[in-house]
Amino acid sequence: MSKRKLDPAESAYWNGFYAGKHPDLEVASTFARWVMERLRPGQTLFELGCGNGRDALFFADQGLAVIACDRSEVAISTLSERPDLARFKIRPVFQAGDMSALDDSRAGKLDVVYSRFTLHAVTADEASAALAWAYRNLAPGGQLMIEVRSVLGSLYGKGTPVPEDRDAFIHDGHYRRFVRKDELEAELRGLGFTISASVEAAHLAVYKDDDPVVIRIVAAKAG
Ligand SMILES: C[S@@+](CC[C@H](N)C(=O)[O-])C[C@H]1O[C@@H](n2cnc3c(N)ncnc32)[C@H](O)[C@@H]1O
Repeated sequence: MSKRKLDPAESAYWNGFYAGKHPDLEVASTFARWVMERLRPGQTLFELGCGNGRDALFFADQGLAVIACDRSEVAISTLSERPDLARFKIRPVFQAGDMSALDDSRAGKLDVVYSRFTLHAVTADEASAALAWAYRNLAPGGQLMIEVRSVLGSLYGKGTPVPEDRDAFIHDGHYRRFVRKDELEAELRGLGFTISASVEAAHLAVYKDDDPVVIRIVAAKAG
């Protein structure tokens, strides 16, 4: 599915992360629970960058048809080999690959594209490719749900700036590119989305001692 070569250092970082145990990341995120209030069982949801699958598995538990991708082969093979996948009414599908180079085999078919904390894990060009893919692959009226770190967060500016990427820093051993809400909204509108919810706030995604300012956006493809 992936057509481009990924930065090996980032792949190594995420493979190493998911090779470890993270019991505090086993439960669904607050964003996933918020999103689920807006969805219904039977809808088809594609997750960009599912990590250890905590949100994908939550959505599958709620009766959604879930396809989840991540660049980390370790994360995807761990998820694909789970012994309990048969318990889901609709068995979730996990696929390794780059969310900025997905094919259009689901063009016009998805009800939801879900991206939590992944747009800031990729370059601006990669994020743009993923957003354009989301528009093409959503069904008319389908929704794109995003939660991403904002430039207003306190981690902004920490670590080593990435010269070629504005607002991007290497910190704690990995890449983060903080997002400007007005620019993300303009990009989504330019693709044809209508924005039905847009929030920029702290206290929505607290993890250990990190309370980032995040942007939450719900954007719909024209029906
Ligand atoms: C901060 S984690 C978020 C994981 C998950 N969405 C969550 O909220 O727990 C970022 C994830 O994005 C994935 N990722 C980074 N670049 C990617 C890419 N180009 N394509 C697919 N996944 C990517 C990483 O492997 C990692 O799992």
